[in-house]
Amino acid sequence: MHMHRFEKIWLTVGVGSLIVFLIVLGFYNFAKGHETPEGLRLIDPQLVDKTPPFDDPGLRELADGTLEVNIVSHVFSYTPNKITIPKGKKVVFNVTTKDVVHSFTIPGTNVNMMVVPGYINSQPYTFKEAGNYLIICNEYCGAGHHLMKMEIEVTN
Ligand code: CUA
Repeated sequence: MHMHRFEKIWLTVGVGSLIVFLIVLGFYNFAKGHETPEGLRLIDPQLVDKTPPFDDPGLRELADGTLEVNIVSHVFSYTPNKITIPKGKKVVFNVTTKDVVHSFTIPGTNVNMMVVPGYINSQPYTFKEAGNYLIICNEYCGAGHHLMKMEIEVTN
């Protein structure tokens, strides 16, 4: 098959830039510690208040010493809406919603979860710096969307 020289150059540049793009994306995700989501966990959105661990939301310590924070999202706030966590300890955030789609986002970190009715989303994070972190909802969820926030205080 005869191929024009320009066609060969065009194909080489096209395929080459695709390979470069995938390598850059792969290294970037690896360097930033991005992970694929874990298994699917379901919950009845109407029974969130009665389903453990969301019947008693908040911070708790698991048997292996890991900290777990169970958070319920709803229009237009999070329960609990303020928690205190010690610095340098691994914390697993479990989030669900009772009503519409929200998000759980800690700006400046790689914690950025969509919170969809019927599902439980989890992400671990270790705070390396003490201070106050503002959690915001970045999925438009209604008239009070801009008011939806939560605070995490990380102590030394
Ligand atoms: Cu919840 Cu926007």
